[in-house]
Order: sequence, then C-alpha cells, then structure tokens
Amino acid sequence: MHKVMTLFIAHVSVLMYNNKKVLFSGRKMALKIQNRQKFRKEVFIMKKKTIFAMLLCICLTASFTLTGCGQSQASPSDNSGSSAAISEVVSSDNQQNASQTSENSEAADASAAEPDTPATQDGPVTIDNIRNLVVGIDEPVELRDGTKKAMINFDNAATTPVLKPVEDEVNKEFEMYGSIGRGYSAKSNHSTDVYNQVRNKVIDFVGADDGDNTYTAFFVNNTTDGLNKLASALIESKDDLVLTTRIEHHANDLSWRERCNVVYAEVDEQGRVIYDDIERLLKENEGKIKYVSVTAASNVTGYVTDVHRIAKMAHQYGAKIIVDGAQIVAHRAFSMIGDTPEENIDFFVFSAHKMYSPYGGGAVVGLTEVLNKHQPEFYGGGTVTIVKDDRQEYKSAPEVYEAGSPNYAGVVGLGKAIDILQEVGFDKIEAHEKALNKKLIEGLKKLDNVIIYGDSENIDDRVGVVSFNFSDINSFILAKNLSEMGGVATRRGAFCAHPYVWRLMKLTDEEINKFAGCADIKTAGMVRISFGIYNTEEEVDQFLAMMPEIMKESTVEKYYLSVNSNRSVPQEELENAVKSIPVAY
Ligand SMILES: Cc1ncc(COP(=O)(O)O)c(C=O)c1O
Repeated sequence: MHKVMTLFIAHVSVLMYNNKKVLFSGRKMALKIQNRQKFRKEVFIMKKKTIFAMLLCICLTASFTLTGCGQSQASPSDNSGSSAAISEVVSSDNQQNASQTSENSEAADASAAEPDTPATQDGPVTIDNIRNLVVGIDEPVELRDGTKKAMINFDNAATTPVLKPVEDEVNKEFEMYGSIGRGYSAKSNHSTDVYNQVRNKVIDFVGADDGDNTYTAFFVNNTTDGLNKLASALIESKDDLVLTTRIEHHANDLSWRERCNVVYAEVDEQGRVIYDDIERLLKENEGKIKYVSVTAASNVTGYVTDVHRIAKMAHQYGAKIIVDGAQIVAHRAFSMIGDTPEENIDFFVFSAHKMYSPYGGGAVVGLTEVLNKHQPEFYGGGTVTIVKDDRQEYKSAPEVYEAGSPNYAGVVGLGKAIDILQEVGFDKIEAHEKALNKKLIEGLKKLDNVIIYGDSENIDDRVGVVSFNFSDINSFILAKNLSEMGGVATRRGAFCAHPYVWRLMKLTDEEINKFAGCADIKTAGMVRISFGIYNTEEEVDQFLAMMPEIMKESTVEKYYLSVNSNRSVPQEELENAVKSIPVAY
C-alpha cells in the first residue's frame, strides 16, 4: 500500500511539475500571456487537464501495481520530467554562456522556439543578478553560417533592452489605465496619480527635490525632443547666443544651431572638453551668452564632464546651464545640486530608453520660475486654463510643456527603471563598468594596428563607452562581421556627433567631404562598444577571443567577394573595389 501511494504521489507530482508554470506560477504566466481573460481560460483548461491526468494516474498506478512492473521502469511522465530538467540545464547553460557560438544548433533552435522569459527577482535586484531580468537576453540570433546564438549586446549607448520588472510594471498599470488629467473615473484618477508620482520621482532622482518646487519636470519623448522643446521655449530671438561644445551629440547642437547663434568650446587632443575654452568664450561674450548647454557624458568616448564646474562659470557670467543627461542617467549617480548654489544645474534632459525602459519616454527637469517665463512652440489640449473665441490663457509649468495626451507607458516604465537602478546602486554600476572598460581597453591594446579614441590610460572619467578603429580595417566591414560572425552588436559610424568624431579621427575637411552623404561603407566612422549594467567580463573575454579571427576576415577583398558570392568577380573589378573602399575608417 505504501508503494502504491508513493507511486501515485510520484505520478501526480510529475504531472503537477509539468503544469507548474501555469498552476503554481500564475502571476508569471499571466504576465507571459499578458491577458487576464486568456490566463483564466488557460488555468481552467489546465485544471481540467490535471483532473483528467490524476484519473489517468490512478488507473496507471493500479495497473502498474497489478502487473508489478512499476518499480524500475521509467514512465512517460518521468521521461518528460527529466527532459524538462535537461532543457532547464540547457537554458541556464545558455544564460551563462550567453555569447558562445552555438555548436549545437538543435539546442539553439529549441530555445528559439520558446525563448526564456526572465524570472521576476524575488530578492533584491543586484549587479550580479540583473542579467536574469533582461528581456531577450537569451534570444538567439542567426549568424552568417546559419547557426544561432544569444547575442552579445554591446550597443547600450544607443538604446538599452527592457528589464522584466519594468515590463511587468507597465503591464500592471495597463489594467488601471485611463486618461491622464482629463477624466473623472477611478482609472483616470489612478493613472493621473501614478503619472504625477513619477514626475516627483524624476525630480528626486536628479536630486532636485528641495521641497520648495524650485524645480519641476515635464515628460518628453526622448532627449532630442526635450532639448528641442526647451530650446523652442527659451530662445527668444535669432540673435540669442548659446555656448555649447564640440563634444556634443547633434541633439545638443542642432537644437540651438537652428534657432540662434552658437559658439563652441573646443576639445583637447584626448577629446576632453577644455574648461578654459568655455571660460574664454564666456569672458569674450560677457553678458551675451544666455545658455550654456553641455553633455554630462559623451556617447563617443564616454567622458564624464564636470558640469558643476561649468555651471559655476556659466552663472558667474550671467548664463543658465542646460545639461544633456542622455548618457549619464544609467551609468552614474547624478545630482543637479552642486556643492554651492552657483554649481547647481538649471535644466537637465534625459531619455528613458537608455535606462532600460524603451517605451519612448524621457524628461526635462528645470527651474520652475524660468520655465514659467517661457512657453514652448507646442500648443493644444491640456495646456490651457481657458480658450475663448479670440483669447486663450495658458497654464504654468509643467502642464504648458505637455501639450496633448502623454505617453503613459513611457512614464510608468521610466518610474520603475529609476527604482531598479537605485536598487542596484550607482556605486556598484560605476565599479562594474570601470572593470569592463579596463578589461576591454587592455584587450584591445593587444590587437595589431588598433586605434582607441580618447584617453586609454586614465579611464576613470569614462562611462562604459569605448570607440576604436584599426588602421588597416574598414569599420563598416568589421562591425558587419562582428554581428554576422560573432553575434556581437556594436555601433558603427559617427554616432550623431560628427564634429566630435571628425576631430578624434583627425580628418581633414577634404577627407570629411569626400564621402559626405553616403551612409555606407565609405562613410568615415568608428566602431563603438557601449556597456549596459548586465554585460559581463566573460562577454568581453569572448569578444576579445573572437577578434583575431574576425579581423582576419575583415579585409576589403574578402568583404567584396562575400557580398558578390553569387558570381565570379573579375580581378580588375576586385582591385578597383579594394582601392575605392577606405580602411582606417
Ligand atoms: C549624449 C546624447 N545626447 C542626446 C542623445 C539623443 O537621445 P535620443 O535619441 O534618446 O533623443 C543621445 C543618443 O544617443 C546621446 O548619446
């Protein structure tokens, strides 16, 4: 009887185990299918299946007991139990060796059919377990040879993947989604509350909550949108003067250049902003420069600029300071408040999609008083107190800066992303990135003919961004091969920071112009690796280990033959191609 009971319990356990994802991980499943009704239906079907399975177990157990063959033979359920265990090993192995070239395309295909959904973390989220929460981390991509492997994502400065808790929070809030600031319903009130809570969280995140509403925040689509909106409000005339630098992303250059006069502070030989040049320009244009707009961290070299030092200079000469925070927010703790009031930052702009919430959001945090003296060139619903036939009155900041219905998912995601980054801790993030940078730079230095842009000796003032080239390789071919042969995502080109990139590459005007307008293999550029908090030293090792082979395959000749592999290429044509495709960029 004891044996019969044991057998019965074993069968039921195996069946329950197989169904556990639905029966015991209801929340996870609900999130996975992202639809409660569908979830209830699935649970109902599973319950029915389980009752049926239990009846089957009773019959099986009885027949096994009667025939006396139950003890040593593995049942079909046992088999499925062990294959589940094997697939779990494969998937956890995949996770650990996320970037190894798959030698077993069958296993990769299996995981391609049902990619792992990262689990929600029960305990605290840390720098060591954050990788488990990255959506799509194990998703295999196809390589040129037809095998599949999980990608090494070294392109986090462009955009970051979504974190599972961020996705969960957005999905959860959709259950209670209603119009923001416009409706009279429980859902509308809830959504409006959440929206404004995130606004306060953002102000707090950048240290600007002084309890006095000195600063407010308005939501935007991204940094580009935020800088343009700010510029459209602050710039009053074409004759206004703005100071920016040659390190900037186009978002913090063109937004001003197109609206008013701009003077640019230069960068030094290593590509760092020259503080003295900023001071010189402020002095030379005493009283005329209204705004100084600088990036807190470069998307090309990762240099962190001392924006509080610049704030002090700007304020001394009567200017306000705007900081492009796109590349700092996910990498270093940032406070708009300096050691002294003169060092405070007046406006700070950033994107949520670069901090693990890619739902198209971002924010501008700025001085309430200054924002209230201006108005952006965006008009519409939500911005007015009253509109009459011939007159309209506008609300104050932040509402007047948020015309139209907002991007709720982007705001909710941003709020959760802030929570997660703070939970992980910026001290840990900074230390982790420094270790990755060090390993990468040291490894790159060992490769023949490498050119690393920026300071590769003193790297403490760099976030996890490293751009490089090889004097005998075209960067387009290298990036293409890294992706197609190694499954490594990098960015290649001039990273929307052309004037800075041309300076670092020391290109003459003639060289820059030569290939202007052709965004292809002939366009000057670099390869950029940019780290996220979930990247590992093992990934850097794997990347460095594959480089010699990939570099060997990245000659212009091999590239040209591979893209024309459907025909035989005449020698003369090949020679001409080799001559026409530049190396070193
Ligand atoms: C320094 C910097 N500023 C601004 C931007 C623009 O950000 P977004 O594309 O989110 O508007 C970027 C994007 O890469 C950036 O790196």
